[in-house]
Amino acid sequence: MFPSRDSLLLGVLLISAIGVHSESIPCKVKDQKYGKVCVCTADYCDYLENPVLTDEDEWFLISSSKQGLRFSTTSGKFGSEDKVTLQDYVEPTTESENESILSNLIDEVVASAFTLESRESSITRSVTLKLNRTKTYQRMVGFGGSYTGAVTYLVESFKQSELADHLYKSFYAEDGLGFNLMRIPIGGSDFDFNAWSYAEEEGNTLLSDMDELHEKDVNKVAQIKRLIEVCENKNLLVKGAAWSAPPWMKTNNKWTGFGRLKRDYYQTWADYHLRWIKLMEANGIPIWAISTGNEPLNGIFFMYFVRFMSMGWTPQTQAIWLNDYLGPTLRNSEFKDIILFGNDDQRYSFPHWFKMMNRTRPSSVDYLDGLSLHWYWDEIFGNSFIEQTTEYAPDKILIVSESCIGDKPWQAAAPLLGSWERGEKYARDYLLNIRLGFHGWIDWNIALDEEGGPNYVDNTVDAPVIVNTTTFEEFYKQPMFYTIGHFSKLVPEGSVRIDAVPSNVNLDSVAFLRPDNKIAAVLFNSGRADLDITLVDSVRGQFIVNVPAKSIHTLLYS
Ligand SMILES: *[C@@H]1O[C@H](CO)[C@@H](O)[C@H](O)[C@H]1NC(C)=O
Ligand SMILES: *[C@@H]1O[C@H](CO)[C@@H](O)[C@H](O)[C@H]1NC(C)=O
Ligand SMILES: *[C@@H]1O[C@H](CO)[C@@H](O)[C@H](O)[C@H]1NC(C)=O
Ligand SMILES: *[C@@H]1O[C@H](CO)[C@@H](O)[C@H](O)[C@H]1NC(C)=O
Repeated sequence: MFPSRDSLLLGVLLISAIGVHSESIPCKVKDQKYGKVCVCTADYCDYLENPVLTDEDEWFLISSSKQGLRFSTTSGKFGSEDKVTLQDYVEPTTESENESILSNLIDEVVASAFTLESRESSITRSVTLKLNRTKTYQRMVGFGGSYTGAVTYLVESFKQSELADHLYKSFYAEDGLGFNLMRIPIGGSDFDFNAWSYAEEEGNTLLSDMDELHEKDVNKVAQIKRLIEVCENKNLLVKGAAWSAPPWMKTNNKWTGFGRLKRDYYQTWADYHLRWIKLMEANGIPIWAISTGNEPLNGIFFMYFVRFMSMGWTPQTQAIWLNDYLGPTLRNSEFKDIILFGNDDQRYSFPHWFKMMNRTRPSSVDYLDGLSLHWYWDEIFGNSFIEQTTEYAPDKILIVSESCIGDKPWQAAAPLLGSWERGEKYARDYLLNIRLGFHGWIDWNIALDEEGGPNYVDNTVDAPVIVNTTTFEEFYKQPMFYTIGHFSKLVPEGSVRIDAVPSNVNLDSVAFLRPDNKIAAVLFNSGRADLDITLVDSVRGQFIVNVPAKSIHTLLYS
């Protein structure tokens, strides 16, 4: 028969039945080499208005799947005996939509809508997920991405400014992913056209050029201000990190390689951070946090592999700089409340880095409000690295401050357009680290080009949005974009993680009690079979929903 039209129509009926707001705009699907992406152009981009629950028993589900669902919506009621079956994405037929066929089909679909058994999938697994809102864990800070020189360049190159607004809103507006965190490099990073910093002129210890934006920062700052404006983002939390001091402050007088900060410039480098915070604030971007520096081990152990801007620190030298220079400089300034993050490097350095810092300067770790982690070695180094950290320093804010795919020799170092598997990799690690107690997550570049750059040493990787640089008139939202959104969109700052216990391994989940007292839960079915999920809430009761194979969902209810 017409299975695709059936489900298309059913979708239309469901959507009108639950009253999704008209501002929601569906994904414009495009098949790419590795799967489906959603296309945004100056005059079209997909958004999803946040659900408004109308009564206490209502639940609302946002879904994405390998097959092609992208933030599709379903709703139902607690206490209903009937299982709600979520239809997976079905390829549209090549014929254009035809009103007469559609109207002929309506009766048929209405008749069969609630007895749908057309799903061909051979096996259905089942799981019970119990949520307990009285058993609470960490309070979330939020989610975000990074605004690098590469992003700035891509946005500058867009043919229409509307496309830039769509990029901003896709990530930072409520109808987009609802991001509230952003990481920006202090000076350059590898995702730029060259290495750069403020005060590059040899011996400029007065940092005399730091009253004005560097030419490389002018457009970046203007773009971020526009982002805040169009996204109506009232509390964007911006976190800065320096990749390297200018060469003259370093032992090797180079941007990269085995080089550390010269002792003579410890105070200068602390002042540099304070001046940068002032400069950004004066230019309309208040800074929430800084770290002690990006990946300090790059300039110590990995200098043969890392060819981009980096500056080496040992825990001992960093403890001295933080305790005797940066910490006091910031805490005695008008920016004394700035959040300070330590480490900004990989799992294998947790928690020894902090223990060794404390051995050198016993109160150095007290200067740190938070610890930030780069996810790249999460799959190789076990959870104990993080568990020991939360045991050692239980009061610190834990943030993943960098994640992307394509950094390893065994991974394609370029975007895989449409790759659901890369989206799944994100889902697995977000779930894992959030369960380990992380309070927030900042992804790496929000957008890159088709090659995974620009990057001045060709350290190319994937990103949640890929820009078409042939035309600069469209960009593609990768599956990773939606996966991240399943965590960020309905989990605002201040949400508290609650107990979410699945009865078996067929489902992976985390859940939160939001500041508005609603529950948001991420449900991840990575299996090849569809899954009956019986959701049991300690207050609300239960319901059953059947979700397709290879799908991820965000559930919301009161
Ligand atoms: C719709 O389909 C009918 C019958 O298949 C055809 O005659 C008609 O031209 C189609 N209309 C459009 C607008 O494609
Ligand atoms: C929920 O968690 C609380 C606090 O840990 C516990 O006392 C209670 O028994 C739990 N409820 C259920 C239904 O498991
Ligand atoms: C830091 O070192 C001091 C002195 O050695 C010790 O008393 C303290 O417990 C240490 N603190 C942490 C958090 O390790
Ligand atoms: C970018 O746009 C060009 C021109 O429309 C098109 O040929 C090309 O396939 C697009 N690139 C991707 C990755 O879709």
